[in-house]
Amino acid sequence: MTDMHKIQVEQLNLAYGENKALFDVNLNIRPNSITALIGPSGCGKSTFLRTLNRMNDLIDNVSITGSVKVDGENIYEPDTDVVSLRKRVGMVFQRPNPFPMSIYDNIAYGPRIHGLKKKSLLDERVEKSLTQAALWDEVKDRLGKSAMGLSGGQQQRLCIARLLAVEPDVLLMDEPTSALDPISTLKVEELSQQLKDQYTIIIVTHNMQQAARISDTTAFFLNGILVESGKTDKMFTAPADRRTEDYITGRFG
Ligand SMILES: Nc1ncnc2c1ncn2[C@@H]1O[C@H](COP(=O)(O)OP(=O)(O)O)[C@@H](O)[C@H]1O
Ligand SMILES: [Mg+2]
Repeated sequence: MTDMHKIQVEQLNLAYGENKALFDVNLNIRPNSITALIGPSGCGKSTFLRTLNRMNDLIDNVSITGSVKVDGENIYEPDTDVVSLRKRVGMVFQRPNPFPMSIYDNIAYGPRIHGLKKKSLLDERVEKSLTQAALWDEVKDRLGKSAMGLSGGQQQRLCIARLLAVEPDVLLMDEPTSALDPISTLKVEELSQQLKDQYTIIIVTHNMQQAARISDTTAFFLNGILVESGKTDKMFTAPADRRTEDYITGRFG
């Protein structure tokens, strides 16, 4: 049902040239939930995540079949406005990648591109986004300073704030804490818990404890196949598939 699902993936296949990376993936994602994508390195997690806002369009020789519906509309229809899609479905990457400009300008960048010009409205948007990303108190006295001077963990929350500033409704996160120390990791995890009330979050993680701590639903990929998906507590206590059990108990990966 379209109402129940923010995202519906049906019979999705993807190949890089001759090399198939995703095979017949079917997955439904509820709004206001966190879905964790787990699986060994090279199994297609990042590839799958990128199909959700057509980031693979930027890579040569990619062929895709099947459909991805966001709010009931197939984003692979030829008339899809990809710029507006990526505004609605935004991505945070593994390494924080702030722009080499001030903290303020990092956050104001997206809203400015989308036509927000008025200083008072930009100020409001910057404060709101940084507050939502649990960074405001740490940076409010240095908004004009370069974002490059922030710690790695602060930079990653800045990147999350930058994403929130364009008012998306889906947040894609590709191993967002893998370059962070444990305390920053915890902050990003807490943040994602707070954000799920307002957003739909899909997070790739190679850290199974992290998936177990923060996600509602877990999807396990192996060699481009979605082996199993379901409620996270069930996936980690009573997986249906032997391959899932082998992976989560550390027999491989
Ligand atoms: N840009 C690319 N061009 C060609 N092959 C790619 C590209 N990105 C990923 N692949 C291949 O697709 C498969 C899945 O990779 P990826 O989605 O990055 O896996 P994961 O995120 O689970 O580690 C791998 O075999 C990888 O080599
Ligand atoms: Mg990856």
